[in-house]
Amino acid sequence: MPVISFANAKGGAGKTTAALLLATEVAARGKRVTIFDADPQKWISKWYDLPNQCDGISVISEISPASITEQITYAAEESDYVIVDLEGTENLVVANALSVSDLVVVPIQGSSMDARGGAKILSLIKKLEKIVRHDIKHCVVLTRSNAAVTTRAMKAVQDFLSAQNIDVLMTPIVERAAFRDLFEFGGGLDDLNPKVVSGVAKAKENASLYAAELLERAIRIPKKRWYNVFKRAS
Ligand SMILES: Nc1ncnc2c1ncn2[C@@H]1O[C@H](COP(=O)(O)OP(=O)(O)OP(=O)(O)O)[C@@H](O)[C@H]1O
Ligand SMILES: [Mg+2]
Repeated sequence: MPVISFANAKGGAGKTTAALLLATEVAARGKRVTIFDADPQKWISKWYDLPNQCDGISVISEISPASITEQITYAAEESDYVIVDLEGTENLVVANALSVSDLVVVPIQGSSMDARGGAKILSLIKKLEKIVRHDIKHCVVLTRSNAAVTTRAMKAVQDFLSAQNIDVLMTPIVERAAFRDLFEFGGGLDDLNPKVVSGVAKAKENASLYAAELLERAIRIPKKRWYNVFKRAS
């Protein structure tokens, strides 16, 4: 079933948070999700080891540039959704994962550095599309946005993206303590105690709208051929 990868060549753009939010939302809807944790910090693997667990989610952290396409292909047969959290750089794992993705999500915070890191991934996607000979669907999600106001930097990023006709989700991921606290307490947003974590209800509403928009775009491309773009190990 669909493979959704999260990539931005700039570190700290919000990839891991956006990937985990999608995974927990999808699992809460009763779907089986496999997450590939290709982030060297292994935040999602650490989250998975916490006592609070999410039914339906499994996490794979042992990956290599040579094996990732086969691993993803296999997981896509076994799960309803495959979610890939990538490192904030351009490397063989990133290129190989993007080449077998049905949807690439590029999280971008309201900063020009993030936008440039996102642009690098968008140009890598263009190169990969020529190699795999099909379109690789992609979109941007704005992250850590302020719930109350649009900052000048965020507005500049939105203008940059719309000038390039890039598909941007209507729902940004808002800056919320609840999204950070998932990594401390484990489980999904439903498992957070609203007496301990502020703004859980608003966080749930935001995560649900964000996931719904992404799932609309994440349609498996039929008869897709799977390629290992770069066979050699890094
Ligand atoms: N919506 C959000 N609300 C609150 N904090 C957030 C949000 N998104 C990201 N953060 C925080 O910002 C920091 C970077 O986020 P995250 O780890 O998701 O980025 P990343 O792109 O995966 O980084 P890396 O490139 O290092 O893998 C983390 O401390 C995370 O808790
Ligand atoms: Mg990360």
